[in-house]
Amino acid sequence: MANQFDVIVLGGGPAGYVAAIRAAQLGLRTAVVEKEKLGGVCVNIGCIPTKALLHSAYVATLLRDAKEFGVEAGTVKTDYGVAMRRSRRVSDQNSKGVEFLMKKHKITVVKGTGVLQPGRRVRVGAEEYAAGKAVIIATGSRVKGLPQIGLELNGSTVISSDEALLLEQAPPSLAIIGAGAVGMEFADIFHAFGTKVTLIEALPRILPLEDAEASDALAKSYRKRGIEVIAGATVRKGTPARNKVTLEVEAGGATRTIETAAVLLAAGRAVNTENLGLGECGIELTDRGFIKVDRDLQTTAPGYYAIGDVAGPPMLAHKGSREGVYVAERLAGLTPPPVAYDNVPSVTYCHPEVASIGLTEEQCRERGLDYVVGRFPFSANGRARGTGETEGFVKIIRDKRYGEILGAHIVGAHASELIHELAVARANEYTVEEIELAIHAHPTMAEAVAEAALDSLGRVMHL
Ligand code: NAI
Repeated sequence: MANQFDVIVLGGGPAGYVAAIRAAQLGLRTAVVEKEKLGGVCVNIGCIPTKALLHSAYVATLLRDAKEFGVEAGTVKTDYGVAMRRSRRVSDQNSKGVEFLMKKHKITVVKGTGVLQPGRRVRVGAEEYAAGKAVIIATGSRVKGLPQIGLELNGSTVISSDEALLLEQAPPSLAIIGAGAVGMEFADIFHAFGTKVTLIEALPRILPLEDAEASDALAKSYRKRGIEVIAGATVRKGTPARNKVTLEVEAGGATRTIETAAVLLAAGRAVNTENLGLGECGIELTDRGFIKVDRDLQTTAPGYYAIGDVAGPPMLAHKGSREGVYVAERLAGLTPPPVAYDNVPSVTYCHPEVASIGLTEEQCRERGLDYVVGRFPFSANGRARGTGETEGFVKIIRDKRYGEILGAHIVGAHASELIHELAVARANEYTVEEIELAIHAHPTMAEAVAEAALDSLGRVMHL
């Protein structure tokens, strides 16, 4: 039967399409239902295009500072439209790549909006598709406005990351509300393209989920560069006009008025759980609006699974992909190790990059753990000096008694890559001694990881 599959995946983002590939690899007849382009938010309007734009931002900054390296670049002119179009090409290439992967694995892609039906069925338009084993819900998340303070997304003066990724020109000024990953990355991008950026965060520090030392380093770096950072701030009211927005912001006991050409809302995302037929199938939500799942990521309705953003935080592509692999393997009768939610790396790709894994120092304190911190600054690292990327540090928190790596925090160039040494170490329960014992090539930024491990043992070499 043409419409009969083993597994039907609703949503072709990094959670859904990866689940589909793994299911197909394991011999399951698989279909993916997707209403837009394959690759989801990540590929089309998230991770991938922002990384392309962040690289444009990096190139602009590098050229402005090129004289120091013996290179005269002349007057550096930036054009956001050109950078934007390049980022679109990168996204399209990736989306086509996912299309190719679906064909390669003989996965049926159904174009359209899927609605769940009881009995492991999915309706797409007039067609109905049936899943012998399971339906996997991977419908992701979307941007949201802040209507409670007068900031409804309007596509021109009040925008989200969706619109920011498609602008032809960088606005002259931009207030960004929310200093999580989205806010931090766009602040970096637009500042490099000449926008006067004001970053406003409700919590006492930017990147509030990161270790306080990482947040402080970033706040310092941004301020030095001329990005205004206002933390511990409450936006009382936003008033959009034709060409500007006026914000009333309360911070540090004072209220001030900020006039800006545009506001970018980066205060979190909403999950896509509406109009999916969840209720009809007996699929319940948690108090926070995510789909309720058990340890196996099965929803409250047997045979329906949820993965990725809809299944709960952290809303990260790589967490969703891992959940996809896990569910596919379970459906094929394998016994994969559980998803290691305590070992999901978090990366913000602004400059300098911020990457972390495991516990922050505050969390170690709260849990009453007996720990030692090892640190190594990139200013003391030969490779970093050579490239002029001396901002930042590696911080490793180790358990005092057993040497277990409780958490690791990296601020600096290539932090996004360096963190994986610690991800592998933690996944395999290596101690700081074992990290240091592995010979690190010289000169590399990775030596700072080994040095931070040594520092936690009281044996740092190059400080
Ligand atoms: P987020 O939840 O990470 O950060 C939102 C920030 O806005 C928080 O710090 C919050 O305290 C602040 N906030 C909330 N309401 C506010 C208000 N009214 N005024 C001022 N500040 C306010 O959400 P974000 O950055 O929008 O990202 C959405 C999701 O996508 C997150 O889960 C994030 O981790 C993920 N993402 C990951 C990226 C990466 O891995 N590099 C890049 C972009 C997004």
